[in-house]
Amino acid sequence: MLITIPNVLSEEEVKQFREYLDEAQWEDGSNTAGSIALNVKRNQQLDDTKEPALSLGSHILKVLSQNPIFISAALPHKIYPPKFNKYGVNETYGAHIDGSLMQIPGTSETMRTDLSATIFLEEPENYEGGELSIETKYGIQTVKLAAGDMVLYPSTSLHHVSKVTKGARVASFFWIQSMVKDIAQRETLFNLDQSVQKLTLELGSSHQEVVNLSGIYHNLIRQWANT
Ligand code: NI
Repeated sequence: MLITIPNVLSEEEVKQFREYLDEAQWEDGSNTAGSIALNVKRNQQLDDTKEPALSLGSHILKVLSQNPIFISAALPHKIYPPKFNKYGVNETYGAHIDGSLMQIPGTSETMRTDLSATIFLEEPENYEGGELSIETKYGIQTVKLAAGDMVLYPSTSLHHVSKVTKGARVASFFWIQSMVKDIAQRETLFNLDQSVQKLTLELGSSHQEVVNLSGIYHNLIRQWANT
């Protein structure tokens, strides 16, 4: 399942991000591609061990920790420090699956990538091409979101970024290790939680069936989550 989350970053935050990113020194993205990805990857990336990537990345982690839709959808255990990329004219990233295990920079810790995330940092009308296409079990889904919006998709999916033909696509991307590894279980929990949230608004949090469903949600988490 592909989940889009609007306004992860506000208009003002995107504007501030872009002030830093537009001044930053971008590097050839193929420096950091794995051997399989190398021949399909043509874009630019920021050095994520330096500013401004460090501060902007930690700001993203802070806003995500307060975003209820993100928490419900990802049930995050570990989050890779957000990275930043840019696709200028003729730049593209061909079909690939992201690496399964990543070492968290600056630590000896390894994480499994369960979910891949992209936060768009340029308005779609300001560039042509640059769509993110993700193969799902229901066919290919293509996304090109408003600046500040995020898409979350299973890291097991084959995906590609179409060639940019005008302007530039700027984004942040990163991975999440979920407390619930299984995609179907994670989707069930997300759907149940969304329904409980809606019922809570309609019926109030002390309604007996809301209390029951909320208890079932937590009991499923207890069965399925690894921390
Ligand atoms: Ni990728």
